[in-house]
Amino acid sequence: MSFDLIVKGGILPDGKTVDIGIKGDRIAAVEPSIDAEAGRTVDATGCLVSPPFVDPHFHMDATLSYGIPRINASGTLLEGIGLWGELKPLLTEEAVIERALRYCDWAVSMGLLAIRSHVDTSDDNAMTGVRGLLAVRDIVKPYLDLQLVAFPQDGFYRAPKAREITLAALDMGVDVVGGIPHFERSMADGTRSVTELCEVAAKRGLMVDMHCDETDDPLSRHIEQLAYETQRLGLSGRVAGSHLTSMHSMDNYYVSKLLPLIAEAGVSAIPNPLINIVIQGRHDTYPKRRGMTRVPEMLKAGIRVGFGQDCVLDPWYPLGTADMLDVAFMGLHVAQMTSPADMAHCFDMVTGVNAAIMGLDHLGLAVGKSASLVVLDAGNPVEALRLRAERLCVVSRGKVVAERPRRDTQLTLPGRPKQVNRRHTS
Ligand code: FE2
Repeated sequence: MSFDLIVKGGILPDGKTVDIGIKGDRIAAVEPSIDAEAGRTVDATGCLVSPPFVDPHFHMDATLSYGIPRINASGTLLEGIGLWGELKPLLTEEAVIERALRYCDWAVSMGLLAIRSHVDTSDDNAMTGVRGLLAVRDIVKPYLDLQLVAFPQDGFYRAPKAREITLAALDMGVDVVGGIPHFERSMADGTRSVTELCEVAAKRGLMVDMHCDETDDPLSRHIEQLAYETQRLGLSGRVAGSHLTSMHSMDNYYVSKLLPLIAEAGVSAIPNPLINIVIQGRHDTYPKRRGMTRVPEMLKAGIRVGFGQDCVLDPWYPLGTADMLDVAFMGLHVAQMTSPADMAHCFDMVTGVNAAIMGLDHLGLAVGKSASLVVLDAGNPVEALRLRAERLCVVSRGKVVAERPRRDTQLTLPGRPKQVNRRHTS
């Protein structure tokens, strides 16, 4: 037997050392040792080999626009939305495509090979982003799964044309139905928007991913309606609630009733730790709320929880590098998930769990799956998180798409022999 590519000596997230044989765009063998001809061999000896990173929550129509036309002075969600409103009329399709492709290049270099991006569908200006990202989805298709969510940023009912344009974007081939119930003008409108948008998804056979309760207001409870509609319409496993930050501030008794409902409905949760910790709690003095939803409690209740990135260099966030290890690193700190098992799970959240939320069954390190993987300069998932380890090699659909050399530091210290410093413990 011969292979197009063999990745030799890598350590899987579960600790097994294996060779991975790839034929075409598929994994053809995962064995303790493969002794066969190969078009190319990647030496991964002693390195973690992981399924690709997956980001289930991003805004690619806004990314890399930081400072255009100005920065967000208050740092709040609402000023960010206002600023995005100023930027939208200035968008051109070419600029959206150029920025999005630049971001996708960063993503690939970081081993991030699948992204779910919301795209604004509030008004005519936003359609520039829809057209641009549909074009980008086609361009990156050979190496990156880009899933688009029709997202009425200014409110499905609140913005006069959002309903019409959201439906038009779905007609144009946008993949997932989005929403923003907490931004509608009343609780009742928020509730109504969840119902109508879930019905749209059920009718069209689409998935749902709503910005839901992204507020510190403990009475923002649209996740309850989202779970209810998921059950009513038989959408289990196809619906995600993004952010859910209000749950942080909710009454404990109410949460004890809410979590089993979300679990029974099969609704996934997507907190976005970098953004939640920066944007929420801005109205607080001290103590200041952490602003991230109740991740360990949801996991304990059996709810599928992934971590998303949300923003990079845009009206809401002045930083970001397309590194899902940054996202998981922040997430485990804010959620205080520091046991070895919890940290390992945080790594899984930004790889396998996020892939499952997005319905990407073809990803995973097993025979027959898509030959997409990342070789990291770390011995195990926890070390990868601690180091935000270098992505030494990224393989997408059987092709090496990114490589970089290991970076060790030469130390020259007075009174000490010269040495190469590595921060690994494994
Ligand atoms: Fe978002």
